[in-house]
Amino acid sequence: MDSPVVQTQRMNLHLRSGKTPLHILKDIDLSIAAGEVVAVIGPSGSGKTSLLMVLGGLESATDGSVIVAGTNLSGMGEDELAVFRRQHLGILFQNFHLIPSMTALENVALTLEIAESKQLPREITAQAASALQAVGLGQRLDHRPSALSGGEQQRVGLARAIVMRPKLLLADEPTGNLDQDTGARVIDMMFGLARDNNTAVFLITHDPALAARADRVLFMNHGQLTSSNASVPV
Ligand SMILES: Nc1ncnc2c1ncn2[C@@H]1O[C@H](COP(=O)(O)OP(=O)(O)OP(=O)(O)O)[C@@H](O)[C@H]1O
Ligand SMILES: [Mg+2]
Repeated sequence: MDSPVVQTQRMNLHLRSGKTPLHILKDIDLSIAAGEVVAVIGPSGSGKTSLLMVLGGLESATDGSVIVAGTNLSGMGEDELAVFRRQHLGILFQNFHLIPSMTALENVALTLEIAESKQLPREITAQAASALQAVGLGQRLDHRPSALSGGEQQRVGLARAIVMRPKLLLADEPTGNLDQDTGARVIDMMFGLARDNNTAVFLITHDPALAARADRVLFMNHGQLTSSNASVPV
């Protein structure tokens, strides 16, 4: 059996708000296998996005261990973490983070360019275009984010997150802004990536129907992560 893609042990995250110390994540033990889709649900402010940030090396755990794709993230510097993210992670943020001055195609191609792959520019363009076609945006390649709807921007974000076929896909409410049909398509693609590319998926959602499709559902409450198979408050 392969080692898990995500493995945290007694991981804690403390932050401060002014002088007030905050214990955001409490003794998180989380393991996600290759190809496994784990959904995380829980109330607003409970720590879901914070956990995603730690798994993505965007926030450093205060203590405990965080191993992602065989790499121990604790003690890594900013530059090393950036390289690690480019090589192994796809991240789909709640608010897309597209570059406004670039077209949809350029936004997706940029991911391949900065990953320093050995591909030729025209191969990069073709691969970025095919990722956009896969999310139903083949007719929008030359649109800048301002000329795309919210749901279309979300799908550019997805194309960008999956174009590298990452070992781990981190997604923060990926269907929050989408109509039902488009949302279903985005989700099908994420499950497809898990199945076909053996990508581990960490999926934050407020949608119980979506959570129910995951291999496993976890519940975040006040910074504690527990297994949950009861019907879940969101
Ligand atoms: N940089 C920060 N400094 C201090 N506190 C923070 C910081 N970022 C988040 N928090 C606090 O951490 C807690 C968890 O926030 P987080 O964004 O992880 O919640 P969430 O479960 O993703 O909520 P939502 O469902 O609303 O997105 C919140 O109480 C928030 O105010
Ligand atoms: Mg959040």
